[in-house]
Amino acid sequence: MYKQNPRRQLLALVFSVIVSITSGSLFAQLGGVGQSMQAFQANCAVCHGENMEGAALGVPLLGELRHGDSFDEIVASISKGFETAGMPPWRDTMSVADIRNLALFITETRANVNYSDFNYDTPIEIPQGLVESELHNFRVETVIADLDAQPFSIAPLPDGSILLTEKKFGVRVIGPDGEKSEYLEGTPQAYSDTYKIAVDQEWGVGWLFDIKPHPNYEENGWIYLYFGDRCSDCNEVSRQSGQPVSMNKLVRGRIEDGQWVDQETVWETDLQYYSVITDVAAGGRITFGEAGHLYFSVGMKGPSNYEGIQDLSTPWGKIHRIYDDGSIPEDNPFTDREDAYQSAYTYGHRSPQGLEFNYTTGDLWGTEHGPRGGDEVNRLQAGRNYGWPLYSLGMDYDGTPVEYGRELGIAFELSDIEQPVVDLTPSPAVSSFIIVDSDQFPEWEGNYLVGSLKARSLFRIVIEDNRLVHRETLLEGFSRIRDIEKAYNDDIYLLLEHNAGSQIVRLVPEA
Ligand code: HEC
Repeated sequence: MYKQNPRRQLLALVFSVIVSITSGSLFAQLGGVGQSMQAFQANCAVCHGENMEGAALGVPLLGELRHGDSFDEIVASISKGFETAGMPPWRDTMSVADIRNLALFITETRANVNYSDFNYDTPIEIPQGLVESELHNFRVETVIADLDAQPFSIAPLPDGSILLTEKKFGVRVIGPDGEKSEYLEGTPQAYSDTYKIAVDQEWGVGWLFDIKPHPNYEENGWIYLYFGDRCSDCNEVSRQSGQPVSMNKLVRGRIEDGQWVDQETVWETDLQYYSVITDVAAGGRITFGEAGHLYFSVGMKGPSNYEGIQDLSTPWGKIHRIYDDGSIPEDNPFTDREDAYQSAYTYGHRSPQGLEFNYTTGDLWGTEHGPRGGDEVNRLQAGRNYGWPLYSLGMDYDGTPVEYGRELGIAFELSDIEQPVVDLTPSPAVSSFIIVDSDQFPEWEGNYLVGSLKARSLFRIVIEDNRLVHRETLLEGFSRIRDIEKAYNDDIYLLLEHNAGSQIVRLVPEA
């Protein structure tokens, strides 16, 4: 069994600030980005210009690049140089990490992703009028504004209303007319006593995550609610640290007259797994599959951002699979291992932000944040290892490759680690997604609509035979997108996150 060390965990609390959890941490600016910016000014600006706009002796690094604009191609350009044209090779004087760091800095600057800015305060820009895109033109229509700054999930119901979790406060019902209810009484408690780390990201424990009606909701009325169950003085870590702890917990209940009733626990862990680590790290998505299966994500809720994730005996850093009543499917991948967490389905996950079942292909898909670079879209196959913290295509915030394997003393073959179907570097901070199945957008059938936080964009991703074949940015620099859902009438809703008031909007197709 995994043993938590309270002192270690407190240290981890301080440290997790440094290693960070959501993509695009402020620490980048203290470490990698600050350094690479300085390195760029000292070594490259003379020829490429302070802002990469170009100068007499060199070319601009914005706009089209002659030698390729992928991360690897830029690394190659810097390493090898172009001596005949006047650019020295840098591999003789710079370390591999320094060169990768510079290349990342260039790709980030090119993609306009600034790692010290989470864009919580950048105004939401709802496009006025028609948005033209490759296959469908559409408008973006606000359903409701002035929601709390930190919502997490929306769940449209058959009657046209929408359930909403505001993660620090509770569950609301947004009526078909756009009226919002008070918070439902009787739901698990949400806690709003967050603390801020340096810049503008709030951390805390005891938040509400995903909410979803059961596939047979119209018959059974069940609504599933996933949250950070919080307690104080309830395990060794909380007693020794004097801090409240939390861990993901899944319940189901029904809604009657503004009350949450009939609550049953579907999944919870032993108190030994409750930690002081912020619920930003919790993952927190659920989705229903075929044959009564229910999947849910648990992020890095262990003592640090890398401990316990490769350990099959812990619930952390895993996608879990159970039946909708909480029982464990006999054919779960690790049921033949006594020491394994029986609900574990896949492992090696960092910050899994989106989870959907593809009913056409019959498999499970997830999105997750890498560290700096390395955001992923994964096909989640039973029993597979998705690599964190052994390996990631992104880099740690200090610009070094991710290789905790060595530190943890875990030997592995790269071929044992499942690679993402889509690698998004630099990280837009992918969030939730849907696999489109909507009569309103027939040309997008089967495509992945993926939201992003920091990059404030909506992407359409086409995957065929488990390979990325096309990517289109439908909305750019628009808003932090926290959740995407399809309604019973095939409307597509986005949940937009903003400090001055979050919003729910609808995509309306137009000829
Ligand atoms: C003495 C001038 C000079 C310095 C210093 C210099 N470069 Fe260059 N760099 C050039 C020139 C000239 C080219 C264009 C080569 C060509 O097109 O064949 C170039 C090309 C590049 C390219 C490829 C651009 C493209 O269009 O594909 C990259 C990337 C690049 N430089 C990065 C850097 C970085 C990072 C540094 C600092 C570590 C740096 N350079 C320092 C002169 C310089």
